[in-house]
Amino acid sequence: MRILITGGAGCLGANLVAEYLRQGHEVLVIDNFATGGPEALPALPKFQLVIGSVANRDVVDAAFARFLPTHVIHAAASYKDPSDWREDEATNVTGTINVVEAARRVAAKRFVYLQTALCYGRPDCIPIQVDHATRPFTSYGISKTAAEAYVAISDLSWISLRLANVTGPHLAIGPIPTFYKRLKAGQKCFCTDAIRDFLDMSDFLELIKIALHEDAPVGIFNASTGEGHTILEVFHAVAACLRISPSEPVPVVPPNSDDIAAVVLDPSLTNRALGWTAKVPFSESIARMISWYEAHGVSAIHSHLQPAPTKMS
Ligand SMILES: NC(=O)c1ccc[n+]([C@@H]2O[C@H](COP(=O)([O-])OP(=O)(O)OC[C@H]3O[C@@H](n4cnc5c(N)ncnc54)[C@H](O)[C@@H]3O)[C@@H](O)[C@H]2O)c1
Repeated sequence: MRILITGGAGCLGANLVAEYLRQGHEVLVIDNFATGGPEALPALPKFQLVIGSVANRDVVDAAFARFLPTHVIHAAASYKDPSDWREDEATNVTGTINVVEAARRVAAKRFVYLQTALCYGRPDCIPIQVDHATRPFTSYGISKTAAEAYVAISDLSWISLRLANVTGPHLAIGPIPTFYKRLKAGQKCFCTDAIRDFLDMSDFLELIKIALHEDAPVGIFNASTGEGHTILEVFHAVAACLRISPSEPVPVVPPNSDDIAAVVLDPSLTNRALGWTAKVPFSESIARMISWYEAHGVSAIHSHLQPAPTKMS
């Protein structure tokens, strides 16, 4: 395959790049390093990098025309400044339209879109079924959801995977790197009482392998374990891996107004239609993540949420 990966310098992208180069495929990445970085990328003969924005149609068209990808994984996304609506719109909506149109022009055999579970907004109940209404209420969620709708009206052979929190190498968002960094530095932590669903990187990569098959179904699928864990559980799992026993109970506070109390996605349709089920248990996934941080450290941590209250400082 000749796989074009947008956002390939990010967490999921870098793991995809490594996986498909390891398998001997050709890979081209388009990334502007907004939240990813060149350190996550290899220097190998079958790898090409275009530094630029998917919002720039000329950059996208030139990369597609030169590389002629057979498969596209669209992972680039903007989220790091929740008040920068214009950048979210440019990258997530215009950028997606650019990538979809370019993929149509080269007749790509398969198009994979990575969607956020924030598309569901505040769900009526959990686990969230894939046909639950979309009600995004943040700039990131709104723009990613508009983009998914453009993918869906294209005549590409497309799949959109609505992802749980993927846990694995290069993770630089969410509670796991935050707790790791603060616990290692002897700093205080607090937890929200939110509940999330954590998917191991190896399970994510296995699902992408299926999603790239030319005869795999077209449509929208939840990508998750279907199992919810509290942020307090995450804290205790990280502390246990580091063999740290906190001297006092960690404060638990309600989520911020732009956060969602519980996000647990129902993967049953994905299990049936794609023949895929997440295998790695939560505790094993956290343990793998902590050993990766011990070996590689934690980079700058990004968030799609407004800055948290200063209780942790
Ligand atoms: N990691 C998860 O658990 C998760 C969950 C839900 C959805 N997603 C989706 O998966 C995709 C990858 O997420 P991630 O966690 O790897 O995030 P990430 O921030 O690590 O990666 C995103 C990459 O996109 C790049 N990028 C941003 N704006 C760009 C632009 N205009 N042009 C080109 N590149 C640009 C960034 O520099 C970064 O390398 C995103 O589309 C995200 O919405 C991820």
